Amino acid sequence: MRKLLLQLDSSRLPSVFDRVVAYDGGADEVMSYGGITEPDVRDLIHGCIFTRGPKDLKNTAVFVGGADIAVGEQLLTAATKAMFKPFTVSTMLDSNGSNTTAVAAVAKMVQATGDVRGKRVLIVAGTGPVGIRAAGLFAKAAADVCITSRKADAGERARDLVLKRFGGTVRAIAMPDAKEAIRACERAELLLNAGPAGVMLVPKQAWASRPGLKVVADVNAVPPLGIEGVEVMDDGVTKEGVVCFGALAIGNLKMKVHKACIARLFERNDLVLDAETIADVARELMAPKS
Ligand SMILES: NC(=O)c1ccc[n+]([C@@H]2O[C@H](COP(=O)([O-])OP(=O)(O)OC[C@H]3O[C@@H](n4cnc5c(N)ncnc54)[C@H](OP(=O)(O)O)[C@@H]3O)[C@@H](O)[C@H]2O)c1
Repeated sequence: MRKLLLQLDSSRLPSVFDRVVAYDGGADEVMSYGGITEPDVRDLIHGCIFTRGPKDLKNTAVFVGGADIAVGEQLLTAATKAMFKPFTVSTMLDSNGSNTTAVAAVAKMVQATGDVRGKRVLIVAGTGPVGIRAAGLFAKAAADVCITSRKADAGERARDLVLKRFGGTVRAIAMPDAKEAIRACERAELLLNAGPAGVMLVPKQAWASRPGLKVVADVNAVPPLGIEGVEVMDDGVTKEGVVCFGALAIGNLKMKVHKACIARLFERNDLVLDAETIADVARELMAPKS
């Protein structure tokens, strides 16, 4: 039976990236819908669950994407609400690659530092989908999380979103530009840049040889890179006394996790892959082979 993936994207044009990875992850056909809003979801899900018998429903799955993680969360909730046993299909949320990218970055940073309970984590430009999910994963691991934004109100909105979904300890501070990075980074023990492509937000003097700082990671792969001095292929290399992860090292793991998640959607018909469950998949992939 053909493996069908329903792609529900909140952006006008459904993501080509997500579609390509869906095929590479094992889908035989991807049915892509863009501009999806909450009221659209129920009938589209009914199209999935009433067309194949319960035993065959593992061959149909749903992928929720789009540029806005808050909307993505709403669509995921609407999708799972529209299903009932035994008429369920597996579902994954990854708006703008947020879950898979954040999971990969956090997994590498945690592997380098060990237990992050009580550790001070700074997420620069943490108001986008990737930053919000990374903040949530760190908060869930009981770290002391701080996100920056250029504007105080945007930071507070993102912080509230993280707290509502993940709980924990999360603060937001304003960091209007890279000049403010030295002050913002002062107390950080772990530092992640989640800023947009092609914007350098953390100059070298903000992180190099800083006492207390253990690890820095950058997800921006487009020059100029987000953290000055951290190269895209850095994969746990120590520079200036700090363990560094660059965007392609994180991206390689992200791609493995994303593809593995797509494959898992078709193994059963009741999986919900969101930040925590995607993190479980990453842990399995990273576990030493016995
Ligand atoms: N390595 C990978 O595998 C991978 C995968 C997916 C995404 N990514 C990368 O991950 C990063 C984060 O993605 P995202 O979608 O979460 O980011 P995003 O929403 O594009 O940007 C994150 C935040 O950056 C701030 N920002 C926007 N323009 C800015 C500017 N010109 N100067 C300073 N700050 C600015 C905004 O926050 P405020 O308005 O609150 O300041 C925004 O919320 C991007 O660099 C993306 O390319 C990497």
